[in-house]
Amino acid sequence: MAGMCRLLRCLVLSSLVLSALCNGILYPRDSESRMIKNLDGMWNFRADDSSDRNQSFHDKWWTNPLSDTGDVMVMPVPSSFNDITNDKLLRDFVGWVWYDRQFYVSQSWQNQRVVLRFGSANYRAIVWVNGQEVMSHDGGHLPFEGEIIQSVLNFKGENRVTVAVDNRLTSTTLPPGSLKSRSGHGFHYEVQGGHMDFFNYAGIHRHVHLYTTPKVYIDDITIVTSIQGTDAGVAYSIVVKGTDSHTDSNVEVSVEDREGKTVSAPPSNRLQGNIVLRNARFWWPWTMKPDDPGYMYTLKVNISGDVYRQPFGIRTVKVTSNQFQINGHPFYCHGAGKHEDSDIRGKGLDYALIARDFAMLKWLGANCFRTSHYPYAEEIMDQADKLGFVVINESPGTAIKSTANMGTVSLTHHKEVMAEMFQRDKNRPSVCMWSLANEPAVNSQQAEDYFKDLIKHTKDMDHTRPVTIPGVGSGPVAQALDVICVGSWYAWSHDIGHTEVIQLGVNSDLPGTFHANNKPIMVTAYGADAVAGFHQEPSVAYTEEYQAEVLSEYHNSFDKYRSQFLVGEMVWNFADFMTFEDYLRPHGNRKGILTRQRQPKRAGHVIRERYLMLANQTSHM
Ligand SMILES: *[C@@H]1O[C@H](CO)[C@@H](O)[C@H](O)[C@H]1NC(C)=O
Ligand SMILES: *[C@@H]1O[C@H](CO)[C@@H](O)[C@H](O)[C@H]1NC(C)=O
Ligand SMILES: *[C@@H]1O[C@H](CO)[C@@H](O)[C@H](O)[C@H]1NC(C)=O
Repeated sequence: MAGMCRLLRCLVLSSLVLSALCNGILYPRDSESRMIKNLDGMWNFRADDSSDRNQSFHDKWWTNPLSDTGDVMVMPVPSSFNDITNDKLLRDFVGWVWYDRQFYVSQSWQNQRVVLRFGSANYRAIVWVNGQEVMSHDGGHLPFEGEIIQSVLNFKGENRVTVAVDNRLTSTTLPPGSLKSRSGHGFHYEVQGGHMDFFNYAGIHRHVHLYTTPKVYIDDITIVTSIQGTDAGVAYSIVVKGTDSHTDSNVEVSVEDREGKTVSAPPSNRLQGNIVLRNARFWWPWTMKPDDPGYMYTLKVNISGDVYRQPFGIRTVKVTSNQFQINGHPFYCHGAGKHEDSDIRGKGLDYALIARDFAMLKWLGANCFRTSHYPYAEEIMDQADKLGFVVINESPGTAIKSTANMGTVSLTHHKEVMAEMFQRDKNRPSVCMWSLANEPAVNSQQAEDYFKDLIKHTKDMDHTRPVTIPGVGSGPVAQALDVICVGSWYAWSHDIGHTEVIQLGVNSDLPGTFHANNKPIMVTAYGADAVAGFHQEPSVAYTEEYQAEVLSEYHNSFDKYRSQFLVGEMVWNFADFMTFEDYLRPHGNRKGILTRQRQPKRAGHVIRERYLMLANQTSHM
């Protein structure tokens, strides 16, 4: 069952532990041996708005078409359901929502393994095919899949897939939250509460795929690269399933360059190995090699006829006491914290939006971003790999503020989520650091134990990437991290209106944080809100002028420490995004340097001028 991670095997290779903690979750790719069917489109949809929010389970809505249970509406997949209709109750709905649709399977799939895969569903999902439960998964923002056994499928006529999705946040979900009810004067209502500062968009957010593999199939591929001079080592490990005898006899592994030419000869016939590439082309962030960024190779694997092509890049990451190095050269990150967030679709995958976001990241001169505050779609990560963006890959562990969110159940789930993230993104060169959580409360013994355990768990899985927790700048948990990421809110959440305090404050804070930890520092959040179109001179809060002035003051401080220990600056935020309703959130969070429609505010131009200057200074390859 998807999401159930268990220790399958651990193998030691080139002194690196490549561990397969979970079942594989390879991206669905077609090949000579695999077929894919995309189930995106208009699904039938119904929210369970019964008073106990559970009528759908009493009435077993999965047994028949959803339209038999009452009125259904159409709902696009992928998309959040919240902003599609003009129904306020659906926008703010908490509880189970139900989706279903019909599909056919080709008779030619009868001798194949058929797998149903969801790119993500927020947050808890249960899936039935033809009325039989086939999988369930806890946690949004990450893929899950399950094999649909042949006896469940109908090869002569219609099939039906039914999905129930629960968007409620509890003390043990990531992010944690709780339902809050209010009553009095004859009213009563219930809302989703929590400390996260973004709207709780929900639904089937990413692609739904049905795909086939042969009965003996490639379940997982792990690749770790190393560099010696102009040569590269490609250490790989393949997990094969569907057979008892894991013999190496029908194994063919080779490396292809970007043009599809085989560059490793002859093909390796082993499930684990280390392929040496002479005069390899390394993966570089675009600012370090503007004429050839993001070079991707392909590991072509053929196990007894099952063919899978796994993209990878050759690069190393190393952290010293004051540098963040990529391929042995210092890397300075200049980018933004982002959100998956847009009009109408909420957090739903949208290719036009992905392309626009990367176009605007390039326009801004940014060379990195943080997946605040959850793992982004695989289709976004693909672009980061290809275009040469450095990604700080963040888990959904945001808003962990109370020890009630740090119990055994929470920790077990958090570890599973880190394992699922690792499984999904381990072969991506763009992913240069894991962010385990965002701004948690760490000032208790329980928090210290929780996060130290989580850090050890992540480092045990992946010895090749540093780890961080933005917002944790001092104390025992910070000591266990590799890079210290901090936020700073002078002249905004305190000292509002007084931009003259920014440099004085930052010039004291940053050296202090460095000397307390003796580790490189990255500023991963700073900024101010501005409502596009608000102008005033002299500036006041919420105008475009004020936001631009705040950023410029910070930049003056950053320049003092760039050549010392500061390894990056990330403005908060790339674009305006929706939040819960709050009187400090005028139609959402306005800290974007772009509007929610991805058009620049004045601050966008300030950042562009600076980042292009920084890009010029670092392109020395
Ligand atoms: C919902 O109903 C099902 C089936 O009747 C039951 O097993 C389950 O415990 C109920 N859940 C809640 C939260 O009431
Ligand atoms: C995969 O390997 C099989 C032998 O096991 C061979 O017949 C087939 O041509 C290979 N396919 C590809 C695409 O390399
Ligand atoms: C970057 O460098 C190029 C070449 O030296 C120069 O033409 C360009 O104006 C520079 N851009 C910025 C923003 O400094």
